[in-house]
Amino acid sequence: MSTSQPTPADILATDLSETAHLTSAAKHPRVLSGMQPSADSLHLGNYLGALVNWVKIQEDFEAFYFIPDLHAITVPQDPKDLVQRTRVAAAQYIAAGINPERSTLFVQSHIPEHTQLTWILTCLTGMGEAARMTQFKDKSAREGTEATGVGLFTYPMLMAADILLYQPHGVPVGDDQRQHIELTRTLAQRFNYRYGETFVVPVGFFPETGARIYDLQDPVSKMSKSAPSPNGLINILDEPKVIAKRIKSAVTDTGTEIHYDREHKPGISNLLDIYASVTDQSVAELVSAYEGKMYGHLKVDLAEAVTQRLEPIRTRALELLDDPAELDRILAVGADKARSIAAPVLDEVYEKSGFLRPAR
Ligand code: TYM
Repeated sequence: MSTSQPTPADILATDLSETAHLTSAAKHPRVLSGMQPSADSLHLGNYLGALVNWVKIQEDFEAFYFIPDLHAITVPQDPKDLVQRTRVAAAQYIAAGINPERSTLFVQSHIPEHTQLTWILTCLTGMGEAARMTQFKDKSAREGTEATGVGLFTYPMLMAADILLYQPHGVPVGDDQRQHIELTRTLAQRFNYRYGETFVVPVGFFPETGARIYDLQDPVSKMSKSAPSPNGLINILDEPKVIAKRIKSAVTDTGTEIHYDREHKPGISNLLDIYASVTDQSVAELVSAYEGKMYGHLKVDLAEAVTQRLEPIRTRALELLDDPAELDRILAVGADKARSIAAPVLDEVYEKSGFLRPAR
C-alpha cells in the first residue's frame, strides 16, 4: 500500500473546484478502471485486487468501469472468443456488485477516442521510457523482440489514454499496475506543461489487502491468466469442487506452523492473504485462530470461504449471460455516457496539438 499517494478518503476530502474549469470536469470525485477480457473468466487476483474495491468505491465516486478489449489483442485472440469474453467480463462486473444504474459500464472499442488519444500520447513518450515498462521488458526478454508485438510496446500509452479521457481523480487497480499509473501521471503532466492545463492528474488506489495475489502453484509469481498451468489459478466462474481441489493442492512451505512470512513462507502467506481478503479478517486474527493447527485444516476452511464468496457471483454471472441482448443494451447505454465525456476532451487535445479542426 502506497503511503505517499492520496487514498480515496483524501480525494473525497479535496476541493473539486481545483479541476472544475477543465473540459469534462467531474462534479463528484471520479474513478475509472478496467480488466482485460483475455480469458474465459476473471480470476481471484482480479477480484480481490480490483473488483472488490470498485464495488465499494462506486458508492462515493462517479465510477467508469470498462472492458479493455483493444488491450486484449496485444496477444493473439480468437475473434469469437473475444466477443464472448467481453460479455463474460461485463456479466462478472455486474454479478460482483457493479451497479450499471449507478456506474458507467462500457467497452473500450466502442469509444474511438481511446485510440485517437493514444497516438498523441505515444508521440509524447520516449522510446527509453516505454522500453522500461516491466510488462514489455519481461515479455520481450522471455520471448525475444521478434515474437513481441509493437502493440505490447504501446500498451501503456493506450492505458494512459483510457484513463485521461475521463478526467478521473483515482484509478482503483492492483499492485502490478503501479508503473502504468505512474506513466499516465507523467504523460498528463507533460501534456499539461506543453499545451496548457488539460488533464486531471489521477492517482492509483491500491487495496490494503489483496493488492497482489500469487499463483497457488508458484507463490512467488502473481496469479495471472497467462500462467503456464491453470492449477495455480482460481477463476470466478470455477465450480466449487474445482476451487476446493486447487486450494487443496496449493504449494505450501516446509515446516508445519501457520504464520505469515512472505519471504520464507510464500505459499502459506498467500493463502493467509486470500483468506483475510475473502473474510474481511486480519492476517493476525487468522494466524492466532490457526495456532497449533495443520496446513490441511487451513486449506479446507479457506476453500469453503472462497466458495462462499464466489459462488453467488458465478451463479449471477451465468444468469446474466443467458440474456446477451440485455448485457449489450447496458453496454450501449454506458458507451453513450462515456463518449459524452471523452469526445470533448479529445477535441480539446486535438485543437491544442495544432490540428485544424473541421469547420462546423
Ligand atoms: P488486468 O486485466 O491484468 O487486471 C485487471 C485488474 O486486476 C488486478 N490484478 C491483480 N490484483 C491482485 N493480484 C493479482 N494477481 C492480480 N492480477 C491482476 C490488476 O492490478 C488490475 O487492476 N492494464 C490493465 C487493464 C487496463 C486498465 C486501463 C486498468 C487497461 N486500461 C485503465 C485501469 C485503467 C490490465 O492489464 O489489468
